[in-house]
Amino acid sequence: MTESGDEAFSTLVAERLALVEQRLEELAGADTPFVTEAANHIIAAGGKRFRPLLVVLASAVGNEPDVEDLVKAACVVELTHVASLYHDDVMDEADLRRGAASANARFGNSVAIMVGDYLFARASTTVATLGVEYVTLQAETFARLVQGQIAETRGPGEGEDPLQHYLQVIADKTGSLIAASAMFGGMVSGVSPEHLESLRLFGEEIGLVFQLSDDVIDITSEVTGKTPGTDLREGVETLPTLLLRRSDDPADRDLVAAIDADLSDDAELAAVLERLRAHPVIDQARDEVRRRAEVARGHLAGLPEGNAKRALLKACDDIATRVA
Ligand code: IPE
Ligand code: IPE
Ligand code: MG
Ligand code: MG
Repeated sequence: MTESGDEAFSTLVAERLALVEQRLEELAGADTPFVTEAANHIIAAGGKRFRPLLVVLASAVGNEPDVEDLVKAACVVELTHVASLYHDDVMDEADLRRGAASANARFGNSVAIMVGDYLFARASTTVATLGVEYVTLQAETFARLVQGQIAETRGPGEGEDPLQHYLQVIADKTGSLIAASAMFGGMVSGVSPEHLESLRLFGEEIGLVFQLSDDVIDITSEVTGKTPGTDLREGVETLPTLLLRRSDDPADRDLVAAIDADLSDDAELAAVLERLRAHPVIDQARDEVRRRAEVARGHLAGLPEGNAKRALLKACDDIATRVA
């Protein structure tokens, strides 16, 4: 492919994402100015739009898609995602989202929960116009997502391996919607069942990598638009803390105790974060991100060569380098 061909593809992707932006704002509109404002609050704050991007990229795997269907499918996954963020920030008592005040911080928990429901309803209306296979996939995805969130809240059951529990949680709460995004792109472009399965497997794996990297970044980065260390403060286990708990080095016991202590004080949290950042478990978690990003790349092997495959492979690299 010539450079100008790559550029033409990038322009096409950007044009389609711009249509998605416009439609998202329209879809978040409501009967009253207040609900419109509250529903647009987190959408307008930005975000990476990773799920719509995946829909758009995967839609270039098959035949030329109907652009209206593509835009709707991309809005469905982003609205579902944003709805889950409204609820997640209530659950995690988070004050910051996408660099702005979280909806719960700005409007209170009740409004944040109801607005999340409102956005989910808007996703439902939109997906209904695409057809029953789309409705089924979105509904099954949301069922997995919320079960992942519930399982995370409850923690591992008696005798359950905490690491296995964590991997199941992140597959369900994050992998499911990212897999559905890749599949929606395949569906609007009428890919073969084999290619749709490759997109599903790819989406599940890259979704896992995405959440693993988000969990590392929660510890290592100051520039996420979220409060660093939220998982630690809320007692949410992630790969680095689970690896630390597995360590049989007596010197690590003190850090485990520090993680388990009350971290509501900002200075205490910052001190624990600094110690954890310097610990080898962070590099171990990074290695796991890179290893699984390679697995995700492998699922793309059977797809036809071209712009879409190249861009999806690059998305794997971009996620792996997020934690570098
Ligand atoms: C945040 O998702 C929640 C996770 C599943 C990690 P994103 O990292 O995609 O958040 P935005 O959409 O860019 O804000
Ligand atoms: C978010 O998980 C997953 C969903 C919203 C389904 P996290 O709680 O780990 O994500 P952030 O770090 O708040 O974005
Ligand atoms: Mg959260
Ligand atoms: Mg959470």
